[in-house]
Amino acid sequence: MRLPQFGIFAQGTNAHEFIEFDLRSDVDKTYAGRLISQLEQPAVAAGGVNLVIAFGPDLWRRLAPDEAPADLSAFREIVGLDERRAPATQHDVFVWINGSSSDVVFEHGRAAVAAVSEVATVATEQACFVHRDSRDLLGFIDGTENPPLLEAPLAALVSPGEPGAGGSHVLVMRWIHDLAGFEKLSQVEQERVFGRTKIDSVELADDEKPATAHIARVEIDDEQGDELEIYRRSVPYGTLAEHGLMFVAFSADRERYDRMLARIFGIADGQRDRLTDFSRPVSGAFYFAPPLALLGLKETPLHESEELLRKIPLFAACAAHELKSIASRARPREYPIGATVCTQGERGGEFFVIVEGQAEARRDGSVLRPLGPGDFFGEIALIDEGPRTATVTSTAPLRCLAIASPQFRDVLGQNADIAVRILDAVTRRLRATATGDLGLFG
Ligand code: CMP
Repeated sequence: MRLPQFGIFAQGTNAHEFIEFDLRSDVDKTYAGRLISQLEQPAVAAGGVNLVIAFGPDLWRRLAPDEAPADLSAFREIVGLDERRAPATQHDVFVWINGSSSDVVFEHGRAAVAAVSEVATVATEQACFVHRDSRDLLGFIDGTENPPLLEAPLAALVSPGEPGAGGSHVLVMRWIHDLAGFEKLSQVEQERVFGRTKIDSVELADDEKPATAHIARVEIDDEQGDELEIYRRSVPYGTLAEHGLMFVAFSADRERYDRMLARIFGIADGQRDRLTDFSRPVSGAFYFAPPLALLGLKETPLHESEELLRKIPLFAACAAHELKSIASRARPREYPIGATVCTQGERGGEFFVIVEGQAEARRDGSVLRPLGPGDFFGEIALIDEGPRTATVTSTAPLRCLAIASPQFRDVLGQNADIAVRILDAVTRRLRATATGDLGLFG
């Protein structure tokens, strides 16, 4: 069984920070994804907070095409009854940090932003808080409909055996409330808006519950008539001037959201959620929170990296202490077949040495050269800080060691033999381009 990101289910946390990021335009998206995944590493996440990382549909498909659920796609604007709308504000990455107090969450939020600043910028940020006994600012308990914690993974996680198993579809929407408008209603009328009692959260009997009541709108069933659930983690936010609910939910598939949203906005059956008279969404995005195993958490012990390096011709002339120092800078990377490791025209972030598997470098669609164990690539964009000169794709499951740009420069500066070998390869690759010989044997 694949382990999910535990933060999805963390209980008892009072302070929340939600951050959406956009990737910088010229960055290598695969490298960016890897760097952002590293946030999950205990070394960064330590210190009493839970962290959940999720990727926008396009980025996740790019990072792990075989692990992208078929129904994963960007949020689209909803235009519903009576001018009720839900705008689409899709971004590339979603990070949720929650903890026991806002100072710790704030510090970790800052650390996360700094850790990924090379590849991503903050698009939205929202600090949130738990209000009384988990009540929405409208005064009703939020999440009463949630499945019990032990059943929550069934509602929230992609089923075993499916692409992305153990991961979760995340819906993020910021809603602004009209508290003054809602508070003009009598309590009985407010309860009819929600479909349950205010103080103790008891669902109204079917004959008292209007068809437009919030909970009547968000209840959906499968073909057998069993309720299809999602796992809500929404929390209030706000200033005195503007406040509302950060709606954040986790689901085993995307269809549940589509069906609920269609019922809320009056697209499904001509009735809309009465709550949309008192609250309106100003953002909407879908993300995918991969299971831990797909966040690249597997760290190879240092001595294993050293053993791998020793067998690679590029490092043949290195003394033991040099190998140790290079190994400490290298990170293992694994790619399924068909993955794009770096993309022509994008900025480079890492240098790669193939340990196992096969890849091919292509320029403008033409194969330049197959690459196998012992071969390296990605040096050119790091040396001249220009765009990648080719796209490298795995043609068999690929295991590499990757060295980030500043460390790669250190390695070149400290090991003349390696620098000369790389110069030799770059020269051959240049000559292959100049003479039109695709370098199949070079
Ligand atoms: P870089 O430009 O950083 O990223 C793409 C990589 O593809 C490039 O570095 C080289 O490592 C590799 N590459 C480019 N041209 C060739 C070639 N003619 N033969 C083999 N590899 C190449």
